[in-house]
Amino acid sequence: MINIITIDGPSGVGKGTVSLKIAKHLGWHILDSGALYRILALVAERKQISIENVTELVKLATKLDIKFIPTDDLSELQIIYAGQNITSEIRSEIYGNIASQIAVKKEVRTALLARQRAFHISPGLVADGRDMGTVVFPEAKYKFFLTASCEERALRRYKQLINIGICVKLSEVAVEVARRDERDSTRSTAPLMAAHDAVTIDTTELPIEKVVKNILDIVVLN
Ligand code: DC
Repeated sequence: MINIITIDGPSGVGKGTVSLKIAKHLGWHILDSGALYRILALVAERKQISIENVTELVKLATKLDIKFIPTDDLSELQIIYAGQNITSEIRSEIYGNIASQIAVKKEVRTALLARQRAFHISPGLVADGRDMGTVVFPEAKYKFFLTASCEERALRRYKQLINIGICVKLSEVAVEVARRDERDSTRSTAPLMAAHDAVTIDTTELPIEKVVKNILDIVVLN
């Protein structure tokens, strides 16, 4: 049996950083499911496909040519789409917002299921997103749900954007994060929520390394 760790939670909680460190520590594969929705947003824009055109979005979703490659210093996951590094481009709040709007479409979510499950290969997978533990990998042995206060999440997302050279205001990021969370939590298909068998970790006061350790302690002990 190939193990899976799912790490779900709202925007800016630090899922990506935590997942990357855990995957590297264990030598497992990684799935940043949010990147798939962001890429759809980017490609739809490039091809001038309206986000209401579900038929075309589904076509795009079924043939996403994507690779995730961690940087040498493990600080970031590079997103390679059709051989092109689009990491910085899709990280902007613009594509986060469009991704969240595309993500309410049931047909698009269904079309992405097989693509996401294809990441489940030996020796194991760390999958982060909103519905990893509830819908995409309900059979996962280890499920975590990360939370943090709205202020802290806005600050983390702000720092992340500044670090990759995207110029933003903290107040704008806070509004965007709150709007996205509201949409992601209230949609009818696969809303953001903790799986009934997930361990919830409030990371507001915890440094990343401590969150990683808490998760690894549970995984290694079981
Ligand atoms: O994790 P992220 O910020 O990169 O995700 C961008 C958007 O994609 C998020 O606002 C909602 C959507 N998403 C989703 O609906 N389901 C997932 N498993 C991951 C992301």
